[in-house]
Amino acid sequence: MYTQSLDVPGHADSAQIAAPQDDEVRQAAFDARMSADGKIEPQDWMPAAYRKTLVRQISQHAHSEIVGMLPEGNWISRAPSLKRKAILLAKVQDEGGHGLYLYSAAETLDASRDDLVDALHSGKAKYSSIFNYPTLTWADVGVIGWLVDGAAIMNQIPLCRCSYGPYARAMIRICKEESFHQRQGFDALLAMMRGTDAQRAMVQDAVDRWWFPVLMMFGPPDAASTNSAQTMAWGIKRISNDDLRQKFVDATVEQARVLGVTLPDPGLQWNAERAHYDYSPLDWDEFWRVINGDGPCNRERLATRVKAHEDGVWVREAALAHAAKQAEREAGERRAAA
Ligand code: 3HC
Repeated sequence: MYTQSLDVPGHADSAQIAAPQDDEVRQAAFDARMSADGKIEPQDWMPAAYRKTLVRQISQHAHSEIVGMLPEGNWISRAPSLKRKAILLAKVQDEGGHGLYLYSAAETLDASRDDLVDALHSGKAKYSSIFNYPTLTWADVGVIGWLVDGAAIMNQIPLCRCSYGPYARAMIRICKEESFHQRQGFDALLAMMRGTDAQRAMVQDAVDRWWFPVLMMFGPPDAASTNSAQTMAWGIKRISNDDLRQKFVDATVEQARVLGVTLPDPGLQWNAERAHYDYSPLDWDEFWRVINGDGPCNRERLATRVKAHEDGVWVREAALAHAAKQAEREAGERRAAA
């Protein structure tokens, strides 16, 4: 997928940007591409700060997908039926795939995957706050699909138009899969809501616990978002944190009504003047605590990832040994043929 991005059809002016010109000329060409809402490809010249912020955002996103496998992976062996187990297995596997596309997209920016993974494991890199909350019941798995993946889609659809080609193309496939994830979550919850009183109570309890953390997934309010102004100017982010959050609230209220659950916010009400739902202020202290490593599951999540990485050492060593042997054999064949 990313190798194709090195030769993008219709991208005739790449050579002009890549040519060895002085920085001012290259910056002007980059700016012109931005003004024309064009795409930047890996072989193009780009300002160091653009590269750095892309690596920051794409790698945080990749880490979120990988850590995001854990809260639901925890339920694979306890899914209530074979059908739900097969769906959940496929979904968790998709998240792993998303992480891999995104690490590959970061590598097109000359980032080293080993460095990125080290930064996650040492606690230096961020990943989405939402995956530091526990999945206490089966209903939590449905709510992750409905709300967490629903919020992820709301945030990620605009990224399909991101100015960096490999990231934008990765997001197209990821969003298609996230859409299936959101629907399977809603479907699982609908089945429970049509079940017993105990099942309905379980769904409501899960919605009560996840609603506010999900709203915080969109990031801090615009006024406190340190990166937004620049990333929006560069066409990486297309819609601000608050605007995406509002779109998500507006879309979700009706879905909650269909499902028959109550969103746990007494301040949630239609504002005819704004033509949007109002909602209560969020607990940003909790958000920063979670991001800074002190959420309910931060330590457990990182310890699980580090252990998985360490347990996989022999696989990486075997793959490298196999590649070395293959290279040696091919070199021998070339020598024999010469
Ligand atoms: N969790 C953790 N950190 C967060 C965060 C969150 N929910 N929201 C914001 N932050 C961090 C930012 O990374 C930034 O930290 P940094 O400057 O040290 O890198 C800081 O808080 C300030 O926030 P900003 O608004 O300035 O940051 P951004 O402009 O980068 O916006 C973002 C944050 C909206 C998450 C943006 O990075 C983004 O759109 N990223 C791509 C999508 C993504 O990563 N989603 C994560 C969820 S993936 C997922 O849910 C998987 C799925 O399968 C369910």
